[in-house]
Amino acid sequence: MDILRKVREYREEQETLKWEGTLEDYLELLKERPYLAQSAHSRVYQMIQDQGIEEIDGHKQYNFFKDQIFGLEESLERLIEEYFHPAAKRLDVRKRILLLMGPVSGGKSTLVTLLKRGLEEYTFTDKGAVYAIKGCPMHEDPLHLIPHHLRAEFEQDYGIRIEGNLSPLNVMRLEEEYKGRIEDVLVERVFFSEDKRTGIGTFSPSDPKSQDIADLTGSIDFSTIAEYGSESDPRAYRFDGELNKANRGMMEFQEMLKSDEKFLWHLLSLTQEGNFKAGRFALISADELIVAHTNESEYRSFISNKKNEALHSRMIVMPIPYNLKMSKEEQIYQKMIQESDIKDVHIAPHTLKVAAMFTTLTRLKESAKGSISLLKKMYLYDGQTVEGFSDTDVPELKKEFNDEGMSGIDPRYVINRISSTIIKKEMNSINALDVLRSLKDGLDAHASISKEQRESYLNFISIARKEYDELAKKEVQKAFVYSYEESAKTLMDNYLDNVEAFCNKSKLEDPLTGEEMQPDEKLMRSIEEQIGISENAKKAFREEILIRISAYARKGKKFDYQSHERLREAIQKKLFADLKDVVKITTSSKTPDEQQLKKMNEVVATLIDEYGYNSTSANDLLRYVGSLLNR
Ligand SMILES: Nc1ncnc2c1ncn2[C@@H]1O[C@H](COP(=O)(O)OP(=O)(O)OP(=O)(O)O)[C@@H](O)[C@H]1O
Ligand SMILES: [Mg+2]
Repeated sequence: MDILRKVREYREEQETLKWEGTLEDYLELLKERPYLAQSAHSRVYQMIQDQGIEEIDGHKQYNFFKDQIFGLEESLERLIEEYFHPAAKRLDVRKRILLLMGPVSGGKSTLVTLLKRGLEEYTFTDKGAVYAIKGCPMHEDPLHLIPHHLRAEFEQDYGIRIEGNLSPLNVMRLEEEYKGRIEDVLVERVFFSEDKRTGIGTFSPSDPKSQDIADLTGSIDFSTIAEYGSESDPRAYRFDGELNKANRGMMEFQEMLKSDEKFLWHLLSLTQEGNFKAGRFALISADELIVAHTNESEYRSFISNKKNEALHSRMIVMPIPYNLKMSKEEQIYQKMIQESDIKDVHIAPHTLKVAAMFTTLTRLKESAKGSISLLKKMYLYDGQTVEGFSDTDVPELKKEFNDEGMSGIDPRYVINRISSTIIKKEMNSINALDVLRSLKDGLDAHASISKEQRESYLNFISIARKEYDELAKKEVQKAFVYSYEESAKTLMDNYLDNVEAFCNKSKLEDPLTGEEMQPDEKLMRSIEEQIGISENAKKAFREEILIRISAYARKGKKFDYQSHERLREAIQKKLFADLKDVVKITTSSKTPDEQQLKKMNEVVATLIDEYGYNSTSANDLLRYVGSLLNR
C-alpha cells in the first residue's frame, strides 16, 4: 500500500538525520555551525524568521502564521518584535513568562499549538537542529559540560556564550561514567516531540489537592532509593516533570492564573535566574520558553492581588484580541468549516461574510468623536473605501480604544450556530438568512450576554441583514444583465465619448449615418444623477474624468470602467435602474409567462455558473430578492 511505503520512506529519512558523537565531535560541528548552540528562544525566533516575512499595509506579515491565523498581524508583530526578537538576543525578557491575554476563542491556543508543532518540525531541519547530552532526561545542553573558568575563552574561540550549570544528574554521570573526561561525554541529536515528551511540554492544572508539584519538576523514584542509598542521589530522581521535559524547547502552561499558588512560586526563580529547584538538588538550569494564556477578567483579578506582584513583574503580557477585519473573519470561518464535519454542505455566497459582519460589529467600539458610524468603521478597518475617510484614518481610530477587540462574539459561537442549524434541519445548503436567524435565536441561550448587550447585538443583526439585502439585490441584478461586464463597458464607452465631446465643445459622429450630433446631455445626466451629481457640479466631474483618462494614458495604463470608483458606481446604478422593473416583475410573478420563465432559468444558470450558487440557493435568492423589490 502506498501509505505504508510513504511511512517507511519517512522513517528511513528520519533515520539518516540521527547523529551521535563525543563532545569533541560536537565542538567540531559548532565550529562550522555555531547556530546549533542557540538558545530555545532564539530557535523559536529563527523558526518564524526562516519562513519569511511580507510587508502588508505597513505591518509585517509572518508566513509562519499566515495560513492559520487571520487578522492578528498587529498583535503578532508586537509579539515577535517585543518578545521573541529581544529574547532571541538573550535580553532579559526571555526569562519572563509569556502571557497571552485575550478573549475566549480568540486564537491563543491556536497560536501556541502552531509554535509547538512548528518547533517539532524545525528540529528536523538543519537550522533548527538540537544536540544534547546523550541519555539525559532533560536533554541538557552539552556545552554545560565546559567548566566555568574556561567559558570566557570558549566564547572568544567559538563566538558562543554559555549559560547555565551542569545539572546534578550529569555532574554525577560525568564522574561515574566518564571519569571526569568531558571530551568523551556522548552527545546526540534530539528531535522534539510532544508525544515523546522531548522538548515540548504542556502543564495543565487539575484538582489542586491531588496535583503534585512533581508534574512540573519531577519526583523521587522510590523504587531506586534502595539501590542508590539516598534521596539526594540524582539517579534516584525522575526528572520527568513538564519543566524538565520542555528544556531546550517550550512549555505551555494552561490556565496558569487558575492554578494553585505553589506552582506559580516555582516559576519565580525560573523566571528570574533561569533555573528551578527540584527535590533536594542544586538548582537546575533550564532554557525554555514558557507560554501561558488567560482572559482579561482573570488577569485583572490576578494583578489586583498584591501577593502576585513579584510574579506579575516577571511576566510579559501580550494582548491577543479578536480579529477586527470582516474579510479575515470570513477566512477564519472557512478554515474552521474545513476542519469540521460540515465541510460538504453548500454555503451560499455571502453567508459567511454576513455572519462575519455581525461578529465584527459586536467587537468594535463606537467612536466618541461621533463622526463615523460603526458600520463604516467596520468597512474602513477591512480596508474598503468609505466615503469621507481613508485608510490613514485607521491608526487614529484604533488609538481611541486600547481594548477594542477584547470583547464581543467569538468565532466558535458562529461556527456552532451554523453547524447546529445544519444538523437540526438536515439541510444540505445554507444561506445568509438561515445563519442570521440562527445567530439571533442563539443569543437567548448565550450564557454570558447581558440584556443591554443583547439589544445591541440584535441591532447588529439587523444591520447585517440590511447589508445583505443590498448585496442580494445587486447580485440578482448583475445576473440579469446579459453579460454584465460587457454592458457596463458599452455604457461607459458611450458616456465617455459624450463627455469628451462636451468638454472639447466638439460634436459626435453618428455611427450609422455618419452625421454630426450634439453630445447626448440626457444620457450623461441619467448616469451622473445616480451618484447625486448636481447640474452645477457636472462640468467639474466630467473634466475630472478626462484628466484621469489622460493621466492613465501617460502612464500607459488602460482606463476601464473599474478605474474610477464613482464612475463605476454610477454606471452600475444606471444599469440596475434600467433593469429594476424587469427584475421586479420577473422575480415576483406568481404565474410567470414563458419569456419570464426563460429569463429566470437563465439567471439561475448565471448564478450557478458564475457566482457560486447551487440550484437551491439560487432559487432562494431570486425569491427573496423578488419579495424585497416588492416592498
Ligand atoms: N484570529 C484567528 N485566526 C484563525 N483562527 C482563529 C482566530 N481566532 C479564533 N480562531 C479559531 O477559533 C477557534 C478557537 O480558537 P482557540 O481555541 O485558539 O482560542 P483560545 O483563545 O485559546 O480560546 P480559549 O480562551 O477559549 O481557550 C479555533 O478553531 C481557531 O482556529
Ligand atoms: Mg485556549
